[in-house]
Amino acid sequence: MAKQASNGENHSVAKPPPTPSPLRFSKFFQPNMRILVTGGAGFIGSHLVDKLMENEKNEVIVADNFFTGTKENLKKWIGHPRFELIRHDVTEPLLVEVDQIYHLACPASPIFYKYNPVKTIKTNVIGTLNMLGLAKRVGARILLTSTSEVYGDPLVHPQDESYWGNVNPIGVRSCYDEGKRVAETLMFDYHRQHGIEIRVARIFNTYGPRMNIDDGRVVSNFIAQAVRGEPLTVQAPGTQTRSFCYVSDMVDGLIRLMEGENTGPINIGNPGEFTMIELAETVKELINPDVEITMVENTPDDPRQRKPDITKAKELLGWEPKVKLRNGLPLMEDDFRLRLDKPRKN
Ligand SMILES: NC(=O)c1ccc[n+]([C@@H]2O[C@H](COP(=O)([O-])OP(=O)(O)OC[C@H]3O[C@@H](n4cnc5c(N)ncnc54)[C@H](O)[C@@H]3O)[C@@H](O)[C@H]2O)c1
Repeated sequence: MAKQASNGENHSVAKPPPTPSPLRFSKFFQPNMRILVTGGAGFIGSHLVDKLMENEKNEVIVADNFFTGTKENLKKWIGHPRFELIRHDVTEPLLVEVDQIYHLACPASPIFYKYNPVKTIKTNVIGTLNMLGLAKRVGARILLTSTSEVYGDPLVHPQDESYWGNVNPIGVRSCYDEGKRVAETLMFDYHRQHGIEIRVARIFNTYGPRMNIDDGRVVSNFIAQAVRGEPLTVQAPGTQTRSFCYVSDMVDGLIRLMEGENTGPINIGNPGEFTMIELAETVKELINPDVEITMVENTPDDPRQRKPDITKAKELLGWEPKVKLRNGLPLMEDDFRLRLDKPRKN
């Protein structure tokens, strides 16, 4: 259609649309949501980043000191215009303009968190203080990945969020368990005192690709042992139970919690309960029927039973896990075989 130009001339040929301004792709282009993920180079964090990056309106910044995480976990995003990776230790302050903070930074495996227990406490306490300070300064919503370890060796079963726990304050695991308990306290104090928007997830055992091989966690141990053809070492008595949540379910739960209206704490985990012997037998059956199962000594303060009550997550987040252990283990096997250079025998 002819258009009347401001100088009064008629233009009968429609003009093609203008090419977007180069500014659109420059630092002046504002995405809808800028998200900081601390600990984003780790196991759960990197899967969370993958999911967040699927949304083209998200810009994701990862801050990680690479203690247990690796750049390898994020390699597909390095160089992407909506992604930034910062080598940063959360025990030091950080100032970035963000709308949301997923605060995951903290080693999760006992081997790593016991390696330098004072550093683990600092990461949980000073690190969480720093991230809350950032949230306060820039008005961001912050989510903490707390843990089922806040229930310690529980005296109620299954554990719901109203249970206050049975935790040893001076044991070798206390740097992690008590560290996370203080982190939760800080979250709620900042919420009450400063009105910060908080979300607290209590994560139960999670498994999946990119877990550290040989990190001492039971699923990765068994799978690495089965893939290498070594005996599966069950810690005595073997009747202690755990529940295992596949990482894609966990990430879905964390995002729902962040996007929803509830502060938590909310348990996120899979209520399917297995004894360690049952888990070893399942790994043996699915991955390597030729390996033996042997019993070894247990570590101090190892909880006897762990199973989440996820009523709250179901009701408030509309969330429940979808991936069954028998379906998740083979996905992890593929990743471990690749990293251990042990292809399947046909
Ligand atoms: N995996 C589980 O089963 C599980 C269970 C309960 C809670 N959690 C929690 O979920 C979060 C992620 O666990 P994960 O399994 O991915 O562990 P992970 O060890 O794979 O990842 C932790 C990440 O935090 C980084 N990190 C550690 N200390 C840091 C510091 N001081 N500054 C900056 N970065 C630091 C590590 O380098 C790593 O990338 C942790 O907060 C953990 O406590 C995990």
